Amino acid sequence: MQSNSFIRRNLLIDKSLRERAEKVIPAGMWGHMSIAALPEGYPQFFAQSKGSRLTDIDGNQYIDFMCGYGPIILGHKDPDVDAAFIAQMREIDLANGPGEKLVDLAELFVDIIPAADWAMFSKNGTDATTACVMIARSKTKKRKIAIAQGAYHGASPWFTPRLAGTTPEDRSHLVYFNYNDVNSLEEVASSVGDDLAGILVSAFRHDTRADQELPSLAFAKAVREVANRTKSALILDDVRAGFRINLGGSWESLGIRPDLSAWSKAIGNGFPIAAVTGNDHFREAAQKVFVTGSFWTGAAAMAAAEATIQKLLRIDAIRHMEKLGNMLREGIREQALQLGVKVRQTGPVQMPQILFDEDPEFRLGNKFCTTALMHGVYLHPWHNMFLSTAHTESDIEMTLAATQYGLEAVAAEQ
Ligand SMILES: Cc1ncc(COP(=O)(O)O)c(C=O)c1O
Repeated sequence: MQSNSFIRRNLLIDKSLRERAEKVIPAGMWGHMSIAALPEGYPQFFAQSKGSRLTDIDGNQYIDFMCGYGPIILGHKDPDVDAAFIAQMREIDLANGPGEKLVDLAELFVDIIPAADWAMFSKNGTDATTACVMIARSKTKKRKIAIAQGAYHGASPWFTPRLAGTTPEDRSHLVYFNYNDVNSLEEVASSVGDDLAGILVSAFRHDTRADQELPSLAFAKAVREVANRTKSALILDDVRAGFRINLGGSWESLGIRPDLSAWSKAIGNGFPIAAVTGNDHFREAAQKVFVTGSFWTGAAAMAAAEATIQKLLRIDAIRHMEKLGNMLREGIREQALQLGVKVRQTGPVQMPQILFDEDPEFRLGNKFCTTALMHGVYLHPWHNMFLSTAHTESDIEMTLAATQYGLEAVAAEQ
């Protein structure tokens, strides 16, 4: 195990792989896992993972606070989940139709999620949010979908944050409100007359490069109320937060039940699976839409999801992540206070966002994170991070040793 004095070796293999990738992959890497927008020092390629640890292609090991951007909730290579996946692979995975696991998993979802009367499965969060929007339109025979400014709901042409390759028509039926702003929601609802098919809202405001915001109860209630009044669907995008806040759905503790929910990321602890759940009012509409994919019935990922959920229930996962998340937040708060560094830690403690005051270009955030990287801790300067149940108190102690160096480096830059 690395010690607090761990200092990273070079990234030579990473560099040579990046050079090879540049020749055969546009820009060497696409999407949110491209390190192009990150400061120098982040590795692009990884070789191994186990529990809370991630090892880059050059053999440097990190305590991982990105967890694959969310999917890894029980830690990398959880033995129970991997065993369930392998056992199912030995029987059957992909075939001309699903295996028994499809029904087992749908029953489990309906069992643990109070808002769910049925479930359907696919592979990515984008599949799930797109299917929710289609089901909402199929049910309501209306067109407009209200989403929060700056929110991310996937990479299809009608949501993708960059406009390249899209047409204005792709998003001509999107209308925008501000998260947690009841007035702007009411305004947008009235601006579309009787054409509102759905309100698509994330579990909390987790936009990149911004402070995170939990939904106020007044806002969540207003979303439900507007959806009821306009006979549109309340669609909860639980792709990122699902199973980290509440195993029954992220708005369950607010007492607000969505009509449709999109899930992915954490539900299979890294194996590819997504889900749409809905209530009985939307069952017939869900039957009518044609959604499918060559790999959507893969039984092994379903077995992994079943094992993941059963383990999350068994080990009181959320309480564990909250406890360690609090320890991390409190530790950083105290360190920053001692050093006179103004840090903002927002969102649920198990999905922390760490930003610095007067840091519009993330110069301080970059310094903080690259220093932590050198000391064996993988943090992100402007995307929310993720804890897993594999993180331990000793991981947090070691992380705090690294953040101390990181905050000292920030203090020296101020
Ligand atoms: C809230 C939210 N919705 C949808 C998606 C899309 O999921 P995927 O990348 O699996 O298509 C993401 C991915 O980050 C997300 O965070």
